[in-house]
Amino acid sequence: RIFSRIAGTGSYLPEKVLTNDDLSKIVDTSDEWIAARTGIRERHVAAEGETTGDLAYHAAVRAMEAAGVTASELDLIVLGTTTPDLIFPSTACLLQHRLGANGCPAFDVNAACSGFIYALTVADKFIRSGAAKTVLVVGAETLTRMLDWNDRSTCVLFGDGAGAVVLKADGDTGILSTHMHADGGKKELLWNPVGVSVGFKPGEHNAGVKVLMTGNEVFKHAVKALDAVVEEALEANGLGRHDIDWLIPHQANLRIIEATAKRLEMPMERVVVTVDKHGNTSSGSVPLALDAAVRSGKVQRGQLVLLEAFGGGFTWGSALLRY
Ligand code: ACO
Repeated sequence: RIFSRIAGTGSYLPEKVLTNDDLSKIVDTSDEWIAARTGIRERHVAAEGETTGDLAYHAAVRAMEAAGVTASELDLIVLGTTTPDLIFPSTACLLQHRLGANGCPAFDVNAACSGFIYALTVADKFIRSGAAKTVLVVGAETLTRMLDWNDRSTCVLFGDGAGAVVLKADGDTGILSTHMHADGGKKELLWNPVGVSVGFKPGEHNAGVKVLMTGNEVFKHAVKALDAVVEEALEANGLGRHDIDWLIPHQANLRIIEATAKRLEMPMERVVVTVDKHGNTSSGSVPLALDAAVRSGKVQRGQLVLLEAFGGGFTWGSALLRY
C-alpha cells in the first residue's frame, strides 16, 4: 500500500497587520465585539500589488526547503484558492513557472474555505494510485481583495495568507483517509454574487465583487457538518475520540473550533488555534495552522493529526493523517 506523507510544511503571511482597533476606525465595530464573537484579534493584509501567487510562492519555497525537495522533483502542483491572481491561467500554473518546475502538471481547486482539504485529497489520490510520487499542495488566498470594507459583518472576519505541504509517496504511513462533501443548495448563505459568466456590476464598488454571508446560519451549518465529518474520519479508521493527538481545524471562528473540540472531547491544549492572529484565511487557514504547529514543535513525527474545514458552496471535509 502506498501512503502520501507530509515531507515538509511552509507558510507565508503578508507583512501588514490590521488589528481590531484599526478596523474600528473604518467601520462601527470594536475589539471587544470581534474578539468575543470570533476570537480574532488581528489579521494580515496583502500589500498593493502582492497577489495570491506571491503568497503561494513563498509558502511553497519554505515547504520544499523543509522537505528537501527541489522544483525538478515535483510531479504535480495542486493549489486551493478562491481568489486566484487571474481568471486564467490558474495560480498553480503561475506558481509552477516561478518555481521552475517545468513540465509538471498544475491546477487550481476552488472549494472556498475547504480548498486546502480538497487539494490535499486530490493530491493524495494521485500518490495512492501511483500516478505521482512528489506533490506540492498549496492553500493561498488574498480574501481581503474580495471584501466590502463598509460591511462590518464580513470585513472583520478575513485575512490573507498561504500555507503549503510537500507530499511524498511512503510505504509505511501518512494520510490515512480523506473525506469531502458539498451541498450546492446552500449557495446564498455564503457567496460572492458576481462572476465572468453571470456578469459583473460595473456601477458597484469593486464591480460587485464581495463576500455575502448569513453569519448565524453559516455558523450552525458549519458546526453540524464538522461534527459529522470528524466522526466519519474516526469511524473510517476504527479510531476513538481520544486517539487523536492534534486537531488542526479551519480557522474561521474560535466558537466553531471549540464546538468541534468539545464533540471530540479534546482539551483546547491539543487544538491548534491561529485564528486570533490570522483571521479566516480561507484555503490558507489549515496549512498555515499546520505549519505553525510543526515549526513550534507541537506536532511531532508519528502523531495522529485531524485536519478539517468548512466553507462556501457549502463544502466541507477532513483528512486524518499520521504526521
Ligand atoms: N461589530 C459590531 N457589531 C456587529 C458586527 C461587528 N463587526 N457585525 C455584526 N454586528 C452586529 C449585527 O449588526 C447585529 O446587530 P443587531 O442585533 O442590532 O441586528 C449583532 O451584531 C449580532 O449579529 P449576528 O450576525 O447575529 O452575530 P453572531 O453572533 O451570529 O456573530 C458571526 C456573527 C461572527 C459572523 C458569526 O455568525 C459567525 O462566525 N458565523 C460563522 C460564519 C463564518 O465564520 N464565516 C466565515 C466563512 S465560512 C467559514 O469559514 C466557516
